[in-house]
Amino acid sequence: MLYNRELICEKLENAIEKSKDYIGMGEPASYIPELLNVDSDNFAFSLVTTNGDAFNFGDENIVFSIQSISKIVDLIIALTDNNPQDVYEKVGSEPTKYEFNSLVPIGDRAANPFINAGAITTTSMIFGRDNDERFERILNFYQTISDFKESKLMEDVFDSEMKTTDRNKAIAYYLKSKNIFTANPDEVLELYIKSCSISSDIEGLATMGAVLANKGYAVKNRDMLVPESIVQIVVSQMASCGMYENSGDYLMNVGIPSKSGVSGAIVGVVPGVCGLAVYSPRLDKTGNSVRGKELFKIISQDLGLNIFV
Ligand code: DON
Repeated sequence: MLYNRELICEKLENAIEKSKDYIGMGEPASYIPELLNVDSDNFAFSLVTTNGDAFNFGDENIVFSIQSISKIVDLIIALTDNNPQDVYEKVGSEPTKYEFNSLVPIGDRAANPFINAGAITTTSMIFGRDNDERFERILNFYQTISDFKESKLMEDVFDSEMKTTDRNKAIAYYLKSKNIFTANPDEVLELYIKSCSISSDIEGLATMGAVLANKGYAVKNRDMLVPESIVQIVVSQMASCGMYENSGDYLMNVGIPSKSGVSGAIVGVVPGVCGLAVYSPRLDKTGNSVRGKELFKIISQDLGLNIFV
């Protein structure tokens, strides 16, 4: 891939400058108290090409919990451990207009793997002798796909969410009551919340996006990290369901398959080109980063990254 590094840097700098109009808009998530313990106006952005070149801006050393972006990791591992048809018997693939932690989109299965009910279900399908081994697999996989070896469990975030997770507890027990899974709901919930509490820096998140943009191959050493058939599922689900009840609007306006988390992070995948990630903790009502969404929209237009045009 040929490009002029200086020109890309200039376009990205300009886009970030334009996104400053959105500073101060929205509120950080407060239902996980520890997420309030950060500066709401923190900002970091990274774009990593499928060749492994990184363009980083803002507080590139800042570390945050990936929250719902872990739903990508849970899905990849569930699809690796199980036959994809078996996974999709337990979760659907359709978007929902309900909020991410709603019990409504649970019929004979959860609507899709990127709402809480769906991710709690995919988490229940991850193999391991016990939760420690399962979490070790999740964390190791994130360290590999992000190439961020310092990634770890953020204990304070995990403890904070465990104390306030009544809604997810209800979801886990409801799923079990419907035989969507048979495992112990408290254990599944613990593993789900641990995966949400995994730490990343911004380049790590963009690197995960770049691996997905690179058909599952590591951008540095070209190791196969995710089979292409799984990449296809994950990226298409990011496009249709990655931004919760805002997914349709976002896809139309931004045109980049993306996944958000309530810490204020968003990861995007431009197949064959790059992964990109933003961190900006103030959220809109749907739980998506306000400045992050707007920045992706500007970048998509200014750098021609919309996958549809
Ligand atoms: O389960 C939860 O509520 C959080 N650990 C993750 C939710 C989340 O990130 C939704 N994202 N926008």
